[in-house]
Amino acid sequence: MTAGASVLPATTSAANGAAEAIHVEDLHKKFGDLHVLKGVSISARDGGVVAIIGGSGSGKSTLLRCINCLENPTSGIIRVNGEEIRLKPDGRGGAMPADRRQIERIRSRLGMVFQSFNLWNHMTLMENVIEVPVHVLGVKRDEAIAAAETLLARVGLSEKRDVYPAFLSGGQQQRGAIARALAIQPRVMLFDEPTSALDPELVGEVLKVIADLAREGRTMVLVTHEMKFAREVASHVVFLANGIVEEEGPPEQIFGAPRSERLKQFIRNVGG
Ligand SMILES: Nc1ncnc2c1ncn2[C@@H]1O[C@H](COP(=O)(O)OP(=O)(O)O)[C@@H](O)[C@H]1O
Ligand SMILES: [Mg+2]
Repeated sequence: MTAGASVLPATTSAANGAAEAIHVEDLHKKFGDLHVLKGVSISARDGGVVAIIGGSGSGKSTLLRCINCLENPTSGIIRVNGEEIRLKPDGRGGAMPADRRQIERIRSRLGMVFQSFNLWNHMTLMENVIEVPVHVLGVKRDEAIAAAETLLARVGLSEKRDVYPAFLSGGQQQRGAIARALAIQPRVMLFDEPTSALDPELVGEVLKVIADLAREGRTMVLVTHEMKFAREVASHVVFLANGIVEEEGPPEQIFGAPRSERLKQFIRNVGG
């Protein structure tokens, strides 16, 4: 074990005994000389909601991007639903995927929602939601449309199905992006600060959709700066600082009785 590697978290009672959906162990990521992740370990069990908090630049997005294979880790282990991402040396001191097909398979189990609601602007909302099911996963168009109608109803956008993203508010676009991510029937949803680019009055409608998903027992890893929200929906909270898991635990402990000085200061600054 390298310095800074954390002990794997004990999950909450609700998630105890469930299979591990995401397993990250001793993950390192360097960008040149910048050592961003210095031995990070996290675990999300089926049905669990893991919230990742931490200051800007602490490596939260990098961690999610490594899980989703958008970034190659320098070293470490990542398993998605028990399948370990196979890496090989990239010849530059880092690692790269050993099997492109495996990366596609792993990505198809993960629904990712980014800070910037990146719907495809040249497609209507409906077209956005059915694009990957129809053109990548081979779902029949009428089946994909039926599934998309259900998803759009769930995020409150049934009336907007034939509208282009430019005519939607930020909150509507982000809810649409959530519907699109759900359309691949992912095993795990990954959210990277899904409300931080929204006008304040639109944050609530997006958080509500995410909270509903959490209540339905959807497995999620959620990077958020909404501390009150993290406290309400998370089963486990991970505080990243300086590239390591500085502290982790159930939300009551992280927000109610933080131990590390860094976490205490972070909570004072952002408001727990
Ligand atoms: N592709 C990249 N190339 C170089 N540096 C990067 C890259 N992506 C992120 N970083 C750096 O890694 C650090 C962590 O970034 P990030 O994971 O985005 O942090 P967070 O999401 O916690 O704000 C920052 O210092 C950032 O500038
Ligand atoms: Mg980020």
